[in-house]
Amino acid sequence: MIIASNFKTNHTRKLTKDFITTVNKSLTTNTKSEVYIFPSSTALDTYETQDNLIIGTQNAYPIQSGSFTGEIGSAQLDEFDIKTILIGHSERRHILKESQESIVNKYKFYMNLGFTIIYCIGEPLKIKEQGINKILEYLYVQLEGIDTSYENLILAYEPVWAIGTGVTATIEDINNIHDVIKEKIDKPLLYGGSVKLSNVEEICSLKNVDGALIGTASWNKDDFIKIIEITKEL
Ligand code: PGA
Repeated sequence: MIIASNFKTNHTRKLTKDFITTVNKSLTTNTKSEVYIFPSSTALDTYETQDNLIIGTQNAYPIQSGSFTGEIGSAQLDEFDIKTILIGHSERRHILKESQESIVNKYKFYMNLGFTIIYCIGEPLKIKEQGINKILEYLYVQLEGIDTSYENLILAYEPVWAIGTGVTATIEDINNIHDVIKEKIDKPLLYGGSVKLSNVEEICSLKNVDGALIGTASWNKDDFIKIIEITKEL
């Protein structure tokens, strides 16, 4: 299983360090899962972790360094040996207005640097209401320009209406979408959108779900550790 925590705009450096240290200690040698943590950029650092606990960045600009106020580039990530990035998250697409074109540029840049990329796709509510064919059409547009054969690609299906709302997609919805995407693209596929302690086992047990990308429910370290524990044999 791949279990990922996206801190979004939460936790200070101090809390992040404590979170990572505690999660790292909890991973036993028989934890086969790959665990990812995406702290805010102010909390990026060199953390000593086991091989299956990977620290990534929630975002970066497709540049080594330069004049891009408020952004970080690959030089800042190299300093901490960070080689994993989230790209295409719905909050960046919808709130921060990242276009597909800029997302594709970012994808190409970090792919060329060999980064592991968790690439997110997902439809808003008004598309969901139009049925599965429209949902798939929408998701395919989010895959335009993306080299899905890239060896270090992990996909995440995250319906926008399920993110941070407490409303999870039904098992049937997740099954249907994941089956189609998996048939088209043979890459690990995570589900994200209100995954929590009470539903993570059922979701991660689905045949075409390879793990979960979790926001809200992962910010408490004890809950996150329990989530890793519950899913480690799946
Ligand atoms: P959520 O966020 O778990 O709070 O719904 C998921 C995500 O944004 O990746």
